[in-house]
Order: sequence, then C-alpha cells, then structure tokens
Amino acid sequence: MILVTGGAGFIGSNFVLDWLANGDEPVVNLDLLTYAGNMENLVAIGQDKRHTFVRGDICDRALVARLLAEHRPRAILHFAAESHVDRSILGPGEFVRTNVQGTFELLEAARAYWNSLDAGARAAFRFLHVSTDEVYGSLGPADPAFTETRGFEPNSPYSASKAASDHLVRAWFHTYGLPVLTTNCSNNYGPFQFPEKLIPLMIQRALAGEPLPVYGDGLNVRDWLYVTDHCTAIRRVLESGRLGETYNIGGWNEKPNIEIVRGICALLDEMAPSPAGPRERLITYVKDRPGHDRRYAIDARKIESELGWRPAESFETGIRKTVRWYLDHRHWSERVTSGAYRDWVRENYGDRQGEAT
Ligand code: NAD
Ligand code: TYD
Repeated sequence: MILVTGGAGFIGSNFVLDWLANGDEPVVNLDLLTYAGNMENLVAIGQDKRHTFVRGDICDRALVARLLAEHRPRAILHFAAESHVDRSILGPGEFVRTNVQGTFELLEAARAYWNSLDAGARAAFRFLHVSTDEVYGSLGPADPAFTETRGFEPNSPYSASKAASDHLVRAWFHTYGLPVLTTNCSNNYGPFQFPEKLIPLMIQRALAGEPLPVYGDGLNVRDWLYVTDHCTAIRRVLESGRLGETYNIGGWNEKPNIEIVRGICALLDEMAPSPAGPRERLITYVKDRPGHDRRYAIDARKIESELGWRPAESFETGIRKTVRWYLDHRHWSERVTSGAYRDWVRENYGDRQGEAT
C-alpha cells in the first residue's frame, strides 16, 4: 500500500481517485482538512475498502510514525502543503509550518520507518515529494524554459517554502540515503480545484456574472497542465524514476493569463450562454500581486526521454473538460463557496484527529 499526504486537496484527491481506478493497491490518505481539503472530492470512493482516510497533521511526527508502523506502506507520496501564493503573501507563517516543518517531520518519520525495514523493503521504498516549478523563479520573455539543473530563485513565501522543502528532501537523500524522488510541476487545472486559483475562480465568477479580476496587465505567463496528466507523471516517476533525481513536469502550454480568461469566457458563452451577453465584458484589470512572477515555462524533456511520459491532454481539450466539469458540478462549487463543505468536518471530527475513518 501507499501513504498519500494531502489527498483531500485538489491534486491529491485527483491522484487518489486515479490511483484506485488504475490498480488494486490500497491507499492511506493523511490530510488535515484545512480550508483546502474537501471530503466531497472523495465521495466516489466513500465505500471503497482500499481507501483509509485519516484526518491529521503532517507536523505530528508521532502520528505519522504510528501510521507507518501500522500500515507499512511501500511509498509515501507527499502532496500536503499550503499552496496558494496570494494567501502566502497575507500569511506566510502557515506556509513555513506546513511546507517546511511539515516536510521535515515527514522525512524524519519516513527515515525512522525506512531504517526499520528489512533489506528488500528498504530497497523498494520510495519517498516522492510533489513540488512546483515556482521554486525556479521568474523567466524573461526570451529565456529558455526551466530545466532540472536551473538554480532556485523563489520569489514568494509560497515558492520559498516549497524550495526549502525540496532542499530538505534532497539532503535526506544525500546524507541519510533515504530513497527520494522530487517532481516540479507547472500550474495544474481540472476538477476539484479550489476556486481561489485562476481557472476555477474565473469560471465561478463568470457564471455568477461577477467581475473577473486580472492582475496587472494580464500578460504574466504560466504553463498549464491538466491534473490527470500530472497524476500519470507522478505514477511514472514512482515506478521508474531514478533515486535522488528531480523531474520537471509540464504541459508545453505557455499562455498569458488574459488569454486563459478570454478562453474561459468564450467556452462558457458557448456551453452556457448568458442573457446578459458575452462574459468578456466582466474582465476587470486590478492592482498587481506583489512580487508577481512574470513567466514560468517547463522543459519536460527529461521525464519524456527517461520515463516516456507526455501529457495526454492539450490545453484545448483539458480546458473544455474542466469548464464542462464545473458546469456539471455547480453543487460542489456552491458548497465550497458557502463553506458548507466544512460542515462534515465539524460534524464528524470536532477536534478529533489521527483516527481512521
Ligand atoms: P491544495 O491546497 O488544493 O491541497 C492541499 C491539501 O493538503 C489539502 O487537502 C489540505 O487539507 C492538506 N494539508 C494542508 N496542510 C496540511 C497538514 N499540515 N497536514 C496534512 N494535510 C495538510 O493543493 P494542491 O493544488 O492540490 O497541491 C498539492 C501539491 O502539489 C502541493 O505540494 C503543491 O505545492 C504542489 N503543486 C501544485 C500545483 C498546482 O497548480 N496546484 C502545481 C505544482 C505543484
Ligand atoms: P494562481 O492560480 O494563483 O497560480 P500561481 O500564482 O501559483 O501561478 O494564478 C495564476 C496566474 O493568474 C498568476 O499569474 C496570477 C493570476 N491571477 C489573476 O490574474 N487573477 C486572480 O484572481 C488570480 C487568483 C490569479
């Protein structure tokens, strides 16, 4: 079995659903259920015996040690993090706690567990750390895309905390021999993404007829990858990645933000026309994000040549599926926006943590 952290968040929940759809190996899912964790992402596997959910904190080393001793996973896939740049600007402390301290505690628990294994299990064990392209910093318009050998130049509290966690993971490999793998992926989009990030936020606001806030001049560039492609890439790295290596994952899909927002407006106008007219009228330029990175671009040739991974979705197919998903799951979005998705956490857990459900 495998242990996933952060498996009630956007990418983690997609990964758990995808994992169970593609094989029989059970998953223990450790998630604190912060505002970003949503059990409604996992309803499709609610009765699935292969999924064990534990509400708990990756900073709680004793809890992680107990889960490892009890379930004896062959791998830890570490998704749990604070993940939103704007939140990291308003409150960086939680990012240092979860992303840096949390990764440290997890590494230490993993190291103790790994040391206790027999030779065969030790050789097979993997700690896969899920990280971001934002650790590399910002590119100029003509700069080559990020390769794995590029130095880290993080500019936001979020990316700095992720860069720190990447360094810890690297050090645990070089110093202690812990069998680690790191992935650095570009911006994901798809089902179950919390509507604070660009794409779901714009879909939701456009449907509600609200202004669409574009930061600065709207010409900041991101590389976009459909979330299921990220999940497939992580599975490939887990299966065949070389120990201690990092793999960049990207969609070969660089786009300025304004183009993304206009594209969403056009798709919504086509799939759910509004009597008030085209949604582009809602686009509103707002004050820029402080320290806003201008451009990210991923050179994903290493994972392609070593592991044979390429994205299955183009941006055109992926964004169409995503808009369709949000149109078909308005109930999910409404419960996230109203906060109703948190009721289950309060009812079921209160202050209780660390127990399997
Ligand atoms: P998310 O914010 O949607 O989900 C994070 C999950 O972690 C939530 O379920 C939350 O409850 C959980 N969590 C937070 N603190 C925790 C703690 N202390 N203990 C246990 N669980 C905790 O994030 P996401 O977008 O799914 O990102 C997942 C990972 O992928 C992150 O490590 C992020 O840095 C990385 N990443 C994200 C993107 C992206 O575009 N979203 C791109 C590249 C890499
Ligand atoms: P975001 O989804 O927050 O991801 P990240 O900052 O990690 O890349 O933002 C993607 C891009 O969209 C980024 O350049 C900031 C911009 N953006 C807006 O213009 N308006 C918004 O309301 C948001 C949330 C983001």
